[in-house]
Amino acid sequence: ATAPDLAGRHVVVSAGGTREPLDPVRFLGNRSSGKQGYALARTAAARGARVTLVAANTALPDPAGVDIVRVGTAVELREAVLAAARDADAVVMAAAVADFRPSVYAAGKIKKKDDKEPEPITLVRNPDILAEVSGDRVRSGQVIVGFAAETDDVLANGRAKLKRKGCDLLVVNEVGEAKTFGSETNEAVVLGADGSETPVPHGPKEALADTVWDLVAERLA
Ligand code: PMT
Repeated sequence: ATAPDLAGRHVVVSAGGTREPLDPVRFLGNRSSGKQGYALARTAAARGARVTLVAANTALPDPAGVDIVRVGTAVELREAVLAAARDADAVVMAAAVADFRPSVYAAGKIKKKDDKEPEPITLVRNPDILAEVSGDRVRSGQVIVGFAAETDDVLANGRAKLKRKGCDLLVVNEVGEAKTFGSETNEAVVLGADGSETPVPHGPKEALADTVWDLVAERLA
């Protein structure tokens, strides 16, 4: 579907993976490439939307006709998403956001001390951006979409996550070291807060993106 059914709409898409720094040279990160989020941004632009793409640590070519905001950490991603969400019709959170960050940032590189065991890394919670935008609904009729990256009990975990986060749609996909992360393809079930379930067969990330926009467009209409 490339009908301009999103013309006049502003959509926000997050993509990529946050990096939570330990010191100036090291971080805690994840395997997201940003490809699924970029596919969502490209397809939304093709369907006529004004698109703000909040990209965390991606190394992909800039999609044409899309406004890009680059971020590093979950806290930066939150700032950028909340700012763009103020006048958005839909927010789609495809980024892999770290739930925790190191509790201490060392201003200098952490040194190895030959005679000592390493210090344990302690973590603190990051803000839950999807739950926050779902709870706030700064604009009436806003459609909020989350993703759930699961390795086991995929659908059961997805259903619980949909309730917990309070979003309208949750795209449940299975991930592994080389599954979904970085690949050109994906396979998912899109769960609706209204109880709907839309299976999307294995195929290009653009195809899943178009199904997400079909479901968003229905809810905006
Ligand atoms: O980038 P690719 O290589 O193409 O891979 C795509 C993908 C696997 C990253 C993508 O399809 C995907 O599943 N993205 C969501 C990854 C994720 O963080 O899932 P989660 O189950 O941990 O989080 C659930 C949802 O809450 C997500 O929408 C996430 O953006 C959001 N979240 C999570 C934690 C947090 N602190 N704030 C959030 O908003």
